[in-house]
Amino acid sequence: MNASDRLIVALDVAGPDEARDLISRIGNRAGVWKIGLELLFTGGAELARELAGDGQKVFVDAKLLDIPNTVERATANIAALGAAFLTVHGHDIKTMEAAMRGRAGSDLKLLAVTVLTSLDAADLEQQGSRMDPAELVLHRATLRRESGFDGVIASGHEAAEIRQATGSDFLIVTPGIRPAGSAAGDQARVMTPAKAIAAGADYLVVGRPITQADDPAAAAAAIAAEIDTALSA
Ligand code: C5P
Repeated sequence: MNASDRLIVALDVAGPDEARDLISRIGNRAGVWKIGLELLFTGGAELARELAGDGQKVFVDAKLLDIPNTVERATANIAALGAAFLTVHGHDIKTMEAAMRGRAGSDLKLLAVTVLTSLDAADLEQQGSRMDPAELVLHRATLRRESGFDGVIASGHEAAEIRQATGSDFLIVTPGIRPAGSAAGDQARVMTPAKAIAAGADYLVVGRPITQADDPAAAAAAIAAEIDTALSA
């Protein structure tokens, strides 16, 4: 994989036309297009099928969490779109095993959402967890061993520990990426592209620093260059 292949652009835009426009501007400076909850309900599923049919890598960020029967059937439908990646909340093994059954026979890779990068220790306490984000991420990352998931979504702050606990065949996909000097927005556990790669992330998820840049192609190219430098360091 080259540096651009590791860059996932979060297409958090109003509709498929805006998404297609961004994709054509960014081109091969990024390797994966992430369709999340905002776009999924304004034509994103059809766009996912179209992009996958064109040979593009599509990440459906549906963050599934429901009873096993529903998760299994939703996962099978997302696999049938031709998606390359799907997120499932990694809170419990029943949900994850259901997703594994749903993707059977497809190439869909399953990623467990550990702890959202917008949450900090105070938010987890409010949810009733006595663990801090790093402990809870690590705890949930180890559920993967039982379920057979391909990897996790985790912030750069936890990537090194996860890598140590899980080994090299495990995908770490890191959102909350902010190039030096850019606004954190609603993200709490942010990191620069270079630091996240150095910490062990395989893929970086970047939304607003690219999609809201005056020149999204230049922003994507700059992040890919930073990934490249970090990989060769
Ligand atoms: O704009 P920004 O770079 O903050 O976008 C990050 C993207 O990654 C969003 O699409 C968000 O839904 C997603 N994400 C996240 N934290 C997670 C999982 C996914 O920020 N734990």
